[in-house]
Amino acid sequence: MNIILLGAPGAGKGTQAVRIAEKYKIPHISTGDIFRKNIKEGTLVGLKAKSYIDKGQLVPDEVVVEIVENRLKEADCKAGYLLDGFPRTLAQAEALSKITKIDAVINLDIDLKKLADRLTGRRICRDCGESYHISTYSDKACKKCGGEIYQRDDDNIATVNSRLQVYENQTKPLIEYYSSKNLLKNIDGGQDIDKVFEDIVNIL
Ligand code: AP5
Ligand code: MG
Ligand code: ZN
Repeated sequence: MNIILLGAPGAGKGTQAVRIAEKYKIPHISTGDIFRKNIKEGTLVGLKAKSYIDKGQLVPDEVVVEIVENRLKEADCKAGYLLDGFPRTLAQAEALSKITKIDAVINLDIDLKKLADRLTGRRICRDCGESYHISTYSDKACKKCGGEIYQRDDDNIATVNSRLQVYENQTKPLIEYYSSKNLLKNIDGGQDIDKVFEDIVNIL
């Protein structure tokens, strides 16, 4: 199954994606994770992406589309995949429709007012990608794998506000876009993590 996870910054895409990928044995493709890896390794793509990510703006469509197109050609995507954070603009969605066929779009629906707190309090495992929140987990090591826990550079309040604004203007229209194609499944992303996952599994 080819799945898109749609949702605002902090809606819980990464949190749910790790669980979905594990349960359905499909690769979790996060364009944000791909950029962060490239930034860390100092590649040309990373260098290009960093200036946008630091400001909370979107990396240009042509850069992202090329990355996803190449990634979807890899052997592990043959039996399905999960896209997290792509597409994020109508142009990306149109480009994707020319590359592959999507079976379901899961939209994690949540009140945007809740998201600044989720994002500024988020901590992530460097090794397995699990997300935590400082209000419920303050250890320095990951509960699942023991990996180092860190905070993303773009999870400061100024960049978060800009990311939320960009979501409103550029990504939200995708809800209507996929709805009109009868692919959209809405999930209440404001519920607790296990309940959100249960709803997703019921839909899939
Ligand atoms: P990306 O890495 O995709 O960031 P994002 O979309 O801003 O989303 P996040 O990863 O911040 O949130 P999430 O929904 O994954 O939430 P999470 O599960 O971690 O992109 C980063 C940047 O890269 C972009 O700004 C852009 O510059 C660039 N980029 C990436 N893709 C691009 C594209 N296609 N085009 C152009 N540019 C692109 O959860 C957040 C927190 O909430 C955690 O602390 C978690 O523990 C907690 N939480 C999760 N679920 C729940 C719940 N149900 N209840 C309570 N707490 C919860
Ligand atoms: Mg994420
Ligand atoms: Zn871990």
